[in-house]
Amino acid sequence: MEIIIQPSHYQLAAIASEIIRDALLRKPNLVLGLATGSTPIALYKALVRMHKENGLDFSRVTTFNLDEYVDIPREHPQSYHTFMAKHFFDHVNISVENQHIPQNTAENHEAFCTAFEEAIVRAGGIDIQVLGIGTDGHIGFNEVGSSLASRTRIVTLTENTLAANAIHFGDDISAVPEMAITIGIGTIMEAKQCLLLANSASKSEAIAKAVEGPITSMVPASILQTHPNTVVLIDESAASDLKEVEYYKRSYANKLKLQSQ
Ligand code: GLP
Repeated sequence: MEIIIQPSHYQLAAIASEIIRDALLRKPNLVLGLATGSTPIALYKALVRMHKENGLDFSRVTTFNLDEYVDIPREHPQSYHTFMAKHFFDHVNISVENQHIPQNTAENHEAFCTAFEEAIVRAGGIDIQVLGIGTDGHIGFNEVGSSLASRTRIVTLTENTLAANAIHFGDDISAVPEMAITIGIGTIMEAKQCLLLANSASKSEAIAKAVEGPITSMVPASILQTHPNTVVLIDESAASDLKEVEYYKRSYANKLKLQSQ
């Protein structure tokens, strides 16, 4: 894991967007794994700016979203379909047939999940997977206790996740869909690179457990310790429970020094 600590989430978004831009310039048919939640919004803004102001071309990009609520209309303001259109897809030139978001119904979900996994393989696998993290260490909607080898499937959300997401449903926990379809942890682990983003103190405990704690299904993000190319981009608040902050900062400073030589 490479740990990059920055003063604010703007710098995190800038670094993440540059990683994606550089990969896209090297490989125009890049396959991106995308996340929702408040954390990656600044990253999407930065990528949209690169598209509008510098002509960054997404025309051959394929995307796969991590997850979607089940039993919520696609047009619902809080569906992840709506989120992605609003924050990213409506502003860049990714063709609609290359955008993949898990379905929003429980209908034939087993066949859907198998087809979703097959589509990822057909696209050549995910090159860069963007991830946020839940306050309990979940990634996508792979809740605590998820098999670390899990694949795309339908899941029931934990009380913790329902409570955390109630803010988007008028603070009414009963309005939050109880189930979702999520890419599996095994699926995420096959991405060539993972970018895990987190900001604010509410994520500091999850980040400390994921980065420095034991690998356990009770902290799904901890499996990323075994991923060969994961970059953890966090602000000072999200880093506040890490033991080795100074070491991570020194390592990153040395990396930049080497790059500028
Ligand atoms: C939800 C999403 C996750 C996201 C998490 C944190 O559970 N399924 O993909 O990482 O929320 O969201 P936020 O970035 O808003 O804190």
